[in-house]
Amino acid sequence: MLRYGACYYPEHWTVEQARQHIPLMQKAGLNVVRMGEFAWCKFEPDPGRYKFEWLDPVIDALHKAGISTVLGTPTAIPPQWAYARQPNILQKDADGHVRNPGARCHCCKNAPGYQFMCEGVVQEMARHYGNNPGVIGWQVDNEFGCHGTTRCFCEHCEKAFREWLIVKYADIDVLNAAWGTAFWGFAFRQWAEIPLPRTMPAGPNPGHWLDFLRFSSDTQVKFLKTQYDLIKGLCPNHFVTHNYMGCFPEIDYHKLSQHVDFPVWDNYPDSYGDPFQPSYAHEITRSFKGRFWVMEEKSGPTGDAEAGLLGEQPEPGEIRRWAWQAVANGAEGVVYFRWRVCLFGAEQYWHGILDHDGVPRRRYAEIRKTGEEFVKVAPEIEGTHVEVRVALIRHFDTLWALERQPGVSGFEYDGHCFDMYRAVKQNGHNCDMIDVDSDLSRYRVVLAPSLALVDEALAKRLHAFVDAGGTLVLTPQSGVRTPANAMWDRTRPGPLAPLVGATVDEVRPYYHGQTNEIAFTQGGMAGQTCRVGMWVEILHPSGAETFAEYRDEAFASKPAITCNIVGKGKVYYLGVFLPEKVLKTFLGGVLPEFPMKDIPEGVEITMRRGKQGRIVFVLNNTRERQALTLPGQFLDLLSGETVGPQVVLARNGVLILKA
Ligand code: GAL
Repeated sequence: MLRYGACYYPEHWTVEQARQHIPLMQKAGLNVVRMGEFAWCKFEPDPGRYKFEWLDPVIDALHKAGISTVLGTPTAIPPQWAYARQPNILQKDADGHVRNPGARCHCCKNAPGYQFMCEGVVQEMARHYGNNPGVIGWQVDNEFGCHGTTRCFCEHCEKAFREWLIVKYADIDVLNAAWGTAFWGFAFRQWAEIPLPRTMPAGPNPGHWLDFLRFSSDTQVKFLKTQYDLIKGLCPNHFVTHNYMGCFPEIDYHKLSQHVDFPVWDNYPDSYGDPFQPSYAHEITRSFKGRFWVMEEKSGPTGDAEAGLLGEQPEPGEIRRWAWQAVANGAEGVVYFRWRVCLFGAEQYWHGILDHDGVPRRRYAEIRKTGEEFVKVAPEIEGTHVEVRVALIRHFDTLWALERQPGVSGFEYDGHCFDMYRAVKQNGHNCDMIDVDSDLSRYRVVLAPSLALVDEALAKRLHAFVDAGGTLVLTPQSGVRTPANAMWDRTRPGPLAPLVGATVDEVRPYYHGQTNEIAFTQGGMAGQTCRVGMWVEILHPSGAETFAEYRDEAFASKPAITCNIVGKGKVYYLGVFLPEKVLKTFLGGVLPEFPMKDIPEGVEITMRRGKQGRIVFVLNNTRERQALTLPGQFLDLLSGETVGPQVVLARNGVLILKA
């Protein structure tokens, strides 16, 4: 069942107002709401005294109207009595300042008093709602790490960090060797001496820093697991999830996903942002478990609670296109944030489907129309999955290491991953976003942008993938660091050198706008040239062939890109960051054949395959009409008409074709 819904906060409305909301929701085609995730003070108004009477009638009324409920566990904000009852539960920042209550997410997930309270309220809720026929699932907490709160520097965390290190290293000398504490006299005799990497006069030890980031991420994973296990124990028929934040860089979502039935994420696309940005996050989230929902989908102007600004109005057709973009990329549910904008509180400006006055207007009408389309198309989409032959390794350890030490100003690991992703999409393909230990044999092509942290075992796995016929694409800074975040003592790209069939002779970070010209020497691009900047690597082949070479004097004729044949497969090593258009063309020659050529810029094609064939989504993510040529004639499931081969898509136009 394709889920379609809204986030709803009955605690913000009178009983009379709420009564008017439900028929309107029903008319809009909603079949699910998320509720409760900030209402701990309503669920447990006094310590240990639980109240559900305020919510139960709402769940019942919604259920009667055909609308199911996903409950949020309310642990992002404890009731006011918590602070006196459980002292020392507030987080501290890197300077030792307390993160004050008044907003949300300010409690430390390693504070035993807070953990105890969270378990209490979650257990009571799960007991109460386990058999409620209106409830179908749970969202644990809300957006872990939101507002910069993933990393806490309080005393509970210091203790928990030391315990985490003992489990990891067992012997303090192993830790000393891994971190390289010989540098700047940082050696430890005992675990109790190890500090958190609080604000310090110079950059932290990279090993210390990376382990702290891993520990901070693991803290969220552990917190989720506790609630997941509690709820699953009491509500075995409900799903349990958590709302991720797309490409949020602070939590290893691969690990977090071990403790959700499927992930969901919160999508607030920017009308003027890159149109592939939402798809990037859709595909990231889908890849963890093969399925996902959008749990918060933009339905009106956003509102910055800190700056006090009202964001842009989505233009007509945009909300509908964003909803279909989610489904096109595999979403099984789209839940709008929020039903009606709040009259009070920090998010007075953060709009929902309805405005402050509750009057249904243009946005409501668009959501209602989209709801009708969802009902119409849902049976065709049922049981299909996004067809993927390409994967991109997005590695959190590498992200954390290179975020702290990018190597050159202007380099951003996730930005680079996105550039590679966009080039894949521009060639028509969908792309799974995978971890270093994912099964590679499912893919024809694997991109591993700037995969810096590599050990022998990973190099071997990549080798096996290529040997069996896969194509691997590597880019600058690959294989230079050990898993402990030390530099390898081997020539770049470290353990990957035998696979690449080339080494890096010299790296040249470019400042002051410096660039170099490269010329392609092989393949369909032979003879083409382009300018590259930011960072270049002068390569030295030892078996690989030169695929592109530098042109500028000092390094003229030196390899910039190499290609190595290994077994039945190929490895490309890019010693440069290719400009957007060149990257698109380059990958066009590397990726599997795609049935459509010359897809206009900003038009997105995705395919979902099922037993009865393929459903092809064509989305016009641009502000202009777009003409394109389909590979034949198709039935458009939305209009019921036969279209193609020539089609013109209106601004924000969507086609859903049966192939
Ligand atoms: C999300 C959050 C919601 C709400 C929304 C609008 O990040 O999960 O609770 O705050 O943004 O600000």
